[in-house]
Amino acid sequence: MININENFLNLQDSYLFSTIAKKVSEYQQKNPDKKIIKLGIGDVTLPVVDEVRTAMKQAVDEMGKKETFKGYGPEQGYDFLREKIVECEYKNRGITIEKDEIFVSDGAKCDTGNIGDIFSAENRVAITDPVYPVYLDTNVMAGRSGLYKESDGKYSNIVYMPCTAENNFEPELPSEKVDIIYLCFPNNPTGTILNKNQLKKWVEYAKENKSIILYDAAYEAFITENEIPHSIYEIEGAKEVAIEFKSYSKTAGFTGIRCGYVVVPKELKGYTKQGEEVSINKLWNRRQCTKFNGVSYITQKGAEAIYSEEGQKQIKANIQYYLENAKIIVEGLNSIGLKTYGGVNAPYVWLKLPEGVKSWEFFDKLLEEVGVVGTPGVGFGPSGEGYFRLTAFGNRENTIEAIERIKKWDFSKK
Ligand code: MLT
Repeated sequence: MININENFLNLQDSYLFSTIAKKVSEYQQKNPDKKIIKLGIGDVTLPVVDEVRTAMKQAVDEMGKKETFKGYGPEQGYDFLREKIVECEYKNRGITIEKDEIFVSDGAKCDTGNIGDIFSAENRVAITDPVYPVYLDTNVMAGRSGLYKESDGKYSNIVYMPCTAENNFEPELPSEKVDIIYLCFPNNPTGTILNKNQLKKWVEYAKENKSIILYDAAYEAFITENEIPHSIYEIEGAKEVAIEFKSYSKTAGFTGIRCGYVVVPKELKGYTKQGEEVSINKLWNRRQCTKFNGVSYITQKGAEAIYSEEGQKQIKANIQYYLENAKIIVEGLNSIGLKTYGGVNAPYVWLKLPEGVKSWEFFDKLLEEVGVVGTPGVGFGPSGEGYFRLTAFGNRENTIEAIERIKKWDFSKK
């Protein structure tokens, strides 16, 4: 008899974005003539930039010639891309990261989900609330979460760090000792940021408690304000306590191409039960060599192309376009008296719903009465109740139309 991993039975319903997609598709089937505007999942809409496509086409041609054909590449990524990352993402910001600390991958969702493989199931995990659901669900799967409690919508062994308007979306240091801390800044879903002093507290906490910070910086390219850290390694000592996750998905429109990378500094140590130090970099390398065969050469050539002068110009223009969408959303919602957060250093706008309005109720009404799809805040955790996320990744015309529709919507009907 084959026994299953029963931790999976402890997961709640389906994955958030699948639930939304299902609801929208059911509604669309019943209302085939209605134009629905999707500002739900954070998926890019602008086409892949010329520099990337040209590089990928050349790589395809190389694959077609005997002399330049490539089979399996290095599991950790090709040197040409790892060197560009070292130079352009870190050295240019005054951060020393070595090539063998970079692990190229198929994106931050997989990396943040897979990283748990190398940590004991007994670790205590802290997540912000609301949170990107992958961090929580993968810990449920791994058996770190304890049981789900209907009473408060939380898992018994997870430490939730509420991030709401009341605390300016800054998670408080946990009062109990935690081992693994997930932080994502600029934040998904709230679009808010932490400044250097705020981030420094976390690095200090992690050092004191021998914890690890899993820092998801997938939205770093959207930072517009000065002094906001683009990498956790801008904080002194962070290389001893943090893994950083980066992605080309939102930075360069790679949601469909798939490419990202993880930085695992060699200073970073984990511990055996006996307290012996073990290199996390070595463990991750071992895990990747066993379970991963690397990202395709064609994809990595595409990723490398974003670091050319022209590539930078092209991807920055796209980021600017999405930030302009965010501005349209923020200004439009604010003009009808709705309070919003985020949207300045991030492609997400976090809308505070009027008193008493629940996130899923708002989702249903917005879909049925306005034909606009967003993401209910509570889908990201109990502290997201009463909030709603809109993404700036739509196209300009649809973004304007969605906001115009919301502005005309009779809110008293809610
Ligand atoms: C989101 O909408 O939160 C993101 O698109 C999810 C992801 O990047 O996997």
